[in-house]
Amino acid sequence: MQDVGFGYHGGAELLSNVTLSLQPGMFHFLTGPSGSGKTTLLRLLYADLLPSSGRIQAFGHDLADMGRDDIATLRRRVGVVHQDTQFLDHLPVAENVALPLNIAGQHVDMDALRDLLGWVQLSQQARALPPELSGGERQRAALARAVILSPDLILADEPTGNLDWDMSMRLMQLLIELNKSGKAVMVATHDLNLIRATKAQVAARVLRIAGKSLQSAGADL
Ligand SMILES: Nc1ncnc2c1ncn2[C@@H]1O[C@H](COP(=O)(O)OP(=O)(O)OP(=O)(O)O)[C@@H](O)[C@H]1O
Ligand SMILES: [Mg+2]
Repeated sequence: MQDVGFGYHGGAELLSNVTLSLQPGMFHFLTGPSGSGKTTLLRLLYADLLPSSGRIQAFGHDLADMGRDDIATLRRRVGVVHQDTQFLDHLPVAENVALPLNIAGQHVDMDALRDLLGWVQLSQQARALPPELSGGERQRAALARAVILSPDLILADEPTGNLDWDMSMRLMQLLIELNKSGKAVMVATHDLNLIRATKAQVAARVLRIAGKSLQSAGADL
């Protein structure tokens, strides 16, 4: 992102002069008060919103020059865990997790799917329906779905929102593992304890949205 500005419906700027570079292997936290624009910034990063000013480049291409197909390709390289995770409630967990493969027209490798569900510790819940899952199980299913296409970048929006501490840390462990395997990870959260606990394990940059701009949060966390 270079000098990016954004306001909804052309209204007042919510984000202004945001410059940010996400490189492979980097771990970023994005923090800031409720309503400061964390979700909005993530949506700009996966081209769900277009900037009002400035430029966003992804994988060497300017988003402004991208057609629908290019955007679809970009989305395959960016895995998103949404703040309010939605599933198709009539389909079992395994099928929900595999959905991005089906949408991308890719073959579902059942062994790989089984491994992925094992990784997020949902092997027992593979045939369950989403409404039968606990909050932590839902978030882990959402993470599995976000990474099934082996994205280069993972954007997680308050992934531990309604989880207790142990489950939050378990989910963070999965994100740390992904990061250690070379993927860029960005986690939006207002939970400073979560940031501190994660920083003890991985070199994470903490960015904060304050007064429309993006600042680097220092040791004052
Ligand atoms: N689709 C939309 N249309 C108009 N305004 C919006 C839209 N989505 C969000 N906003 C507004 O933009 C501001 C930033 O919202 P955003 O969801 O990015 O904040 P956030 O930092 O993610 O907050 P939270 O911590 O509560 O998730 C809020 O004032 C919100 O009301
Ligand atoms: Mg949000």
